[in-house]
Amino acid sequence: MTSRPAGKGRSGGAPRPGGKARPAQPSAKPRSSQADAKPRATQSGVKQTAVKPSGAKPRTTQSGKQSGSKTRTSSAKASQTKPGRTAGFSVATRRPATKQARSRRTPRRWPRRLALTLVIAFALGAATLVRADWEVHNTFLNTTSHRTDELASELRVVQLTDFHNIPRPAQVRDIVELVRGADPDLIAITGDLINTNNRTLDPVRRLLDGLSGIDAPRYYVDGNHDHWSADHARLHELLERFDVTILTDENTQVSGDFGRLSLIGVDDYFSGNGDIDAAVAGLPDKGFRLVLTHSPEIFGELDRSHIDYAICGHTHGGQIRLPLIGAIYQPGGNWFPKVSKGAYVDGDATLFVDSGLGVTGPKLRLFNQSQVTLHRIGPDV
Ligand SMILES: [Fe+2]
Repeated sequence: MTSRPAGKGRSGGAPRPGGKARPAQPSAKPRSSQADAKPRATQSGVKQTAVKPSGAKPRTTQSGKQSGSKTRTSSAKASQTKPGRTAGFSVATRRPATKQARSRRTPRRWPRRLALTLVIAFALGAATLVRADWEVHNTFLNTTSHRTDELASELRVVQLTDFHNIPRPAQVRDIVELVRGADPDLIAITGDLINTNNRTLDPVRRLLDGLSGIDAPRYYVDGNHDHWSADHARLHELLERFDVTILTDENTQVSGDFGRLSLIGVDDYFSGNGDIDAAVAGLPDKGFRLVLTHSPEIFGELDRSHIDYAICGHTHGGQIRLPLIGAIYQPGGNWFPKVSKGAYVDGDATLFVDSGLGVTGPKLRLFNQSQVTLHRIGPDV
């Protein structure tokens, strides 16, 4: 009786008694490796045949593997082919849900989702319209500042632009009180007080009457709608009656605690009426130059005319503005305008475009509320 040393396998190359030593088989692989689970029929020489139940396709287990298990066992038993069973253990199986079965189990949610989407869209649209209407009928005070050493102290200019004959007396009273509360040194009305077509001039009469009770000089330049209106001459009569100075391509000197400045009124460039050269004629070279005009079309003319600061309106800020985008459209067929609201600089000249009080076209303002603007101009603002 012979014995083999413990711990040595058959393939370890130990010499057999009376036999030659065989070299170790380099190709011997661990038997337990799943990766090497090739069909054993080729190893054992027995061809294995998967047995399929009559008329049944190979079923799929929960893990997604076929239950045929051709490579797992050396003998194919009939029980392997039964649904849900493999050699020695059972696997839960589930029939693929048919389309009809799925539709029975899943309630139809899309009609409810569609209805909910429509309700939310309607609510957002209604809220936007309410807000856009509110911004038209409620005016607030906007304040901006421009620094200059050419004035001795602060000059306070209150700008009213694009009033467009606002019909609500309560809103006109609010506008007058905003101007009074801003404590102006001068009041600048930069055009479009009325519309091209006006049923009455009572609104603008109420405004001028209210402003006449404020202790500050008032100046006016025409806008395009003032020019286009059949009421243009009647408007000028009203302005003169309420002691408003009309500046048409001309200038005047204004002085006060703030020092002295040249106040220049330039007629409306948008309607083809302005002449800045005529407006600045005869002015001293030095001193602060403040321009009142209606539309921003004058922008490129300001620096060459040595204008320090100009204020205008006309654009209504686009009326409808979107965050991060700004104005969508403004009068004159101008889509996504580059100059629509706020301060713009060209050389030593600054143009402030005010979005103003009223509206034309759709009576809507969004993210662009009706406003009066106070300009604080001086060395310490
Ligand atoms: Fe205008």
